[in-house]
Amino acid sequence: MDEFERHGIGVVSGRDACARALRSPDLTSDPGGGSPSVLLRDGEDHARVRAVLREIVAGLEPFPASLRASIEDAVAGLGTSFDLVRDFARPVAGAVTSAVLGVPLDDVFLDHLEATTANLDVFGGTDRAGQVSAFRLAVQLSRTVAGPGGLTALRAAHAAGRLDEDELVINAVVLAHAVYENSLNFLACAGLEFATSGPRSVRELVTAICPARYVLRFGPDGPVAISLTDGLPFGLGRHACPGSGVAVAEGEIALTALAKVLGDGCRVGEVRWKTHPVFHGLAKAVVTLASGNG
Ligand code: HEM
Repeated sequence: MDEFERHGIGVVSGRDACARALRSPDLTSDPGGGSPSVLLRDGEDHARVRAVLREIVAGLEPFPASLRASIEDAVAGLGTSFDLVRDFARPVAGAVTSAVLGVPLDDVFLDHLEATTANLDVFGGTDRAGQVSAFRLAVQLSRTVAGPGGLTALRAAHAAGRLDEDELVINAVVLAHAVYENSLNFLACAGLEFATSGPRSVRELVTAICPARYVLRFGPDGPVAISLTDGLPFGLGRHACPGSGVAVAEGEIALTALAKVLGDGCRVGEVRWKTHPVFHGLAKAVVTLASGNG
């Protein structure tokens, strides 16, 4: 029995059953409680917030040349021994998140973003550490002077009456989280694949790795966890990831640059995995280049 079933949450698996569940009008993303987050609502309010977020994501399509260059430079500058999470995936995912929001993001911000996920209690428990981190991020973003980009666009949407105050504050964090966490987990796992088995296409890898393993929905018989591991890494239906094009472009740029760095081979050690039931990722994996073996 898996962890969801132990908590009385039904699990839907198999691609067809999952696709049907994701498109079903009988299952909602809204657990009740009136969250302003795009991820936790359905109907007209969801469509309205999602439309604003889609416009923001479209600002990175096509992928900006300056962002591409800064990712390529950061990856080319990796030393002869580096951690795929801290030194490769984190700076790349951080740069893309910063570009989406249009604000510089420091390590403290990224630490809180990671703590939000690590402590995200999908089983409705009482541990509030994830919410505390998310709240700190919301406060920080609300005080940040923003350049052109997502945060300015969210504020403009609020000023134009398209978002209320709560939607503005919460969805800035939700957007940062959506861009950062899945990118971070995908890039590190894909980097490990490159280092151990050689290059593969990003679309193939994202399906195999599936960084967001389940999405939760609520139906007449209670909550269900819908598996995305049977070929639906970006979800499907009303909440399907609006950033999949950006994620694939980001992956192609970063992994192509990593393949060049890995060059003549490497060894990998200290591989440790995260243990979150939904977000699948590495905690650490140290690569030592063949050229750095002495
Ligand atoms: C490999 C990287 C990524 C993966 C695997 C991924 C996966 C997903 C999945 C499965 C969902 C659906 C959640 C649900 O149905 O409840 C989602 C939603 C979302 N993603 Fe992504 N994502 C990635 C990267 C990104 C990026 C780079 C962006 C923005 C540029 C982004 C923005 C969003 C947003 C705003 C939502 C909420 C959509 C809604 O609720 O309507 N994601 N993502």
